[in-house]
Amino acid sequence: MEAINIGILGLGTVGSGVVRMLTNHAEKISSITGRRLVVKTIVVHDLSKKRSVDMTGIKVTDDVDAVLSDPSIQLVVEVMGTVETAKKYIEQALKAGKHVVTANKDLIATYGPELTSLALQQKCDLYYEASVAGGIPILRTIVNSFAADRIVEVKGIVNGTTNYIMTQMNQKGVSYAAALQQAQELGFAEADPTNDVEGIDAAYKMIILTQFAFGKDITLSNVKLEGISGVKLEDIEEAKRLGYKIKLLGISKLINEHLDVSVGPVLVPRSQPLATVQNENNAVFVTGAAVGETMFYGPGAGELPTANSVLSDIITVTKNIAMGTTGVRFNDYSAQIKLAESSE
Ligand code: NDP
Ligand code: HSE
Repeated sequence: MEAINIGILGLGTVGSGVVRMLTNHAEKISSITGRRLVVKTIVVHDLSKKRSVDMTGIKVTDDVDAVLSDPSIQLVVEVMGTVETAKKYIEQALKAGKHVVTANKDLIATYGPELTSLALQQKCDLYYEASVAGGIPILRTIVNSFAADRIVEVKGIVNGTTNYIMTQMNQKGVSYAAALQQAQELGFAEADPTNDVEGIDAAYKMIILTQFAFGKDITLSNVKLEGISGVKLEDIEEAKRLGYKIKLLGISKLINEHLDVSVGPVLVPRSQPLATVQNENNAVFVTGAAVGETMFYGPGAGELPTANSVLSDIITVTKNIAMGTTGVRFNDYSAQIKLAESSE
């Protein structure tokens, strides 16, 4: 069976999950794609760190050129984070004709349109399902299942760390600092959790959801933004007494054909499904003019749920390589149909 060589940038929470799933599910993936996926090289920052995954036969290096300049590597999986450095590496990969899968919402929310143009120009794939709502396949769902509908609102809980913190504070009376530390230890929080607690991570995800739902490119300056760092245990207890839960909600909606995008703590009635979303779980409501209100629920962060989303992209890219249908915008469903037809 023909092999596809993969280079992975980063071996933290998500990268370890990707290696684990590629190893444990190798046979199933080969039978679906018709290709053998081989992790050839992994780039890390600190070579002396002890790793939790089996890396037999894999080259581990701190030299990114070992991936970017290796012509045998067709697919680069970026799971290291950062914005400018990741952008530079992904640009280099695309310019070298490599396909890219990333989980990096900071990067995609900031440079998604620019990187997509480069990928299209290079006839390469650029997929990023894991960048929004961790294990929930929400981007694919919007592209595929809402293709014929007109979406009027996307809203929900799209940050696992803050939902985890507020659940712990609400149910167990844990302090904000202790709950944040737990979220970091469990691998839900960003390397610098400021983006989580200040709502910036959720805003990045709402920027990407807005692109997918409404076809509009917006930036952080277009999002009304407030985090949870000002939410106190007393606020949570008072809300509880009145029959509410405080949730960090992202909302993107059309009001008289104008987009209104916000992220902030909201009082949610206890009877509302969003109030029941606990710990690192996320939930996204997509409202279409035809279908009405739909809700998608699942783990919003963590090793294997996120890795599963990365794997779904890896499998998509592998199938595209096998069928010769690479180089289509992730959120352009009509182009995918056109390409599939032209390749028949
Ligand atoms: P971690 O901090 O756990 O891991 C980052 C990895 O990247 C580490 O292995 C680190 O190396 C490596 N790394 C960092 N900078 C560099 C660099 N300049 N050169 C080479 N290697 C580097 O992050 P996560 O796995 O949690 O997150 C990775 C990405 O996935 C981020 O973009 C994050 O936003 C996104 N994401 C994370 C989710 C989660 O639940 N954690 C969910 C969805 C998306 P070393 O190990 O040597 O330090
Ligand atoms: N830090 C992010 C969160 C990871 O807690 O939601 C998933 O994107």
